[in-house]
Amino acid sequence: MTHANADAPIGVFDSGVGGLTVLAALRAALPTERFLYLGDTARVPYGTKSPATVARYAENVADVLLARGAKALVIACNTASAFGLEAVRARTGVPVVDVIGPAAADVAARPGLRRIGVLGTRGTVASMAYPRALERAGATVEIAQQPCPLFVPLAEDGWTSGPVPRQVADTYIGSLLASGPVDAVVLGCTHYPLLREEIDASLLRQMGRHVPVIESGPAAARALVEALDATKLRSARPAGPALTTYLVTDDPAGFSVVGERFLGGSVGAVEHVSVGAA
Ligand code: DGL
Repeated sequence: MTHANADAPIGVFDSGVGGLTVLAALRAALPTERFLYLGDTARVPYGTKSPATVARYAENVADVLLARGAKALVIACNTASAFGLEAVRARTGVPVVDVIGPAAADVAARPGLRRIGVLGTRGTVASMAYPRALERAGATVEIAQQPCPLFVPLAEDGWTSGPVPRQVADTYIGSLLASGPVDAVVLGCTHYPLLREEIDASLLRQMGRHVPVIESGPAAARALVEALDATKLRSARPAGPALTTYLVTDDPAGFSVVGERFLGGSVGAVEHVSVGAA
């Protein structure tokens, strides 16, 4: 049994920079907490790998964060949530929050949605994790899913707006809408909010109206607040400057450039760490 301590940091992980979109929401919701963010940049993308490989990667990364004393874990990656949630939960007694269940609860709480689109990695779409989670959450909606694999390298390389991501977004959104219009779109990959401007513009061009877009971050933040309250693990530190330590498995300098642009401020030192064998 793990004895977590309220002053310990919260571990957050993703395959790369995408989880920063979740981290931003967690930091806004929990300004008194310390965070330990790990981007598995040596092994990104997760979305094209097999379920067993992604589950093993998630276990390796969770072990690093737990060894550094994390009092709770947030799997800030939909693919790792789809394939690794149970394996990570089985390794620890600390609360583990994923991004798929909370996003499905967000959809279920919105009235009047008849048909929704889910954009995700190939792995997340093939796993059917969203249709299952939406059913569990009691959302009676039709679901159209679309894998968008090129969004991940575009986000990792900082190609978040301009003609190339615009054309890619138009192609994916066009395929999503080919079977009919949608009332809302779930960004079922934490990298995709980095391309939000192009995704929103493409939806507007192709639907002729604004469509609500649901991201993983705010939903995961609500689930984490609930989990910390339920386990009495909220930090008593006074609210202050956000304290986050960044770890990556490759290219700290590249992570720092994209991270700074995305978080709108210096990310500070980025430490290189090794995780389990590739
Ligand atoms: N950001 C991740 C997700 O939410 C994975 C992207 C990738 O590594 O393919 O699924």
